[in-house]
Amino acid sequence: MNRQYRGIQQKIRGTATSDGAGVRLTRVIGSQAMPMLDPFLMLDEFGSEKPGDYIGGFPSHPHRGFETVTYMLDGRMRHKDNHGNEGLLTPGSVQWMSAGRGIVHSEMPEQEQGLMRGFQLWVNLPAKEKMSEPKYQEFNAGQIPQVTLPDGAKIKVIAGQVGDVIGPVVQPATNPLYLDVLLAAGQSFEHGLPSEQNAFVYVYEGELALVVNDEKLLVKTRELVSLTKGDAVRFEAHAETRFIFVAGNPLNEPVARYGPFVMNTQAEIHQAIQDFQAGKF
Ligand code: CO
Repeated sequence: MNRQYRGIQQKIRGTATSDGAGVRLTRVIGSQAMPMLDPFLMLDEFGSEKPGDYIGGFPSHPHRGFETVTYMLDGRMRHKDNHGNEGLLTPGSVQWMSAGRGIVHSEMPEQEQGLMRGFQLWVNLPAKEKMSEPKYQEFNAGQIPQVTLPDGAKIKVIAGQVGDVIGPVVQPATNPLYLDVLLAAGQSFEHGLPSEQNAFVYVYEGELALVVNDEKLLVKTRELVSLTKGDAVRFEAHAETRFIFVAGNPLNEPVARYGPFVMNTQAEIHQAIQDFQAGKF
């Protein structure tokens, strides 16, 4: 059977913004150009060598109703929450946090200088799990399997599966794929994907093409593309290229969001604000 290759549905560039205590970042998903890509609510890229761009960090703030996924490429970030959890994110580590019914946490740079770089992705939870107990899945660089395919692609499997290598993150609600891919110039990588999943690619170094039959669709550095439907994706690098490739099952539920609260209805948002103010997180 012929594979149906996915092409580009929408191509966007991120918007420079700041969040937390003045952390400069690029908001990609969750911007005006792409408010969400069900089940993904937000993608921020942070990256700077200037301490002034990140040192303020993200002091104490709440979350309810979804998951925050932090993937550190460089630098160190300490997180602490109001349930007594604390940990240090080191280069190459991933924290997949289900906020569920609510946590209040801080995410603060541990380092005072040097390069701080990574991503934060917000993944929605279905209505029936929005008020579940908060939980963490946290893995350091050594716990994230890396595959080198026969034609040279190097892939860190954070969530999902490449060949018989399975990423450590488990989330049946959205069945996510989260890959960090490195291709040398001229190398290609092909991956099958369930046709019902929404997917995006964000190139953070280099430049690649999505190959759809005879067509090559270019994606440059700092561009994000959401993908059309299909059951496979084929990438070809034009230079040494690094990108994240993320997919998940859409929830197809109404979304009511207000800052760090993402629920299904406005009434649930009001409840979240009240509960937070009453110290019930
Ligand atoms: Co947070």
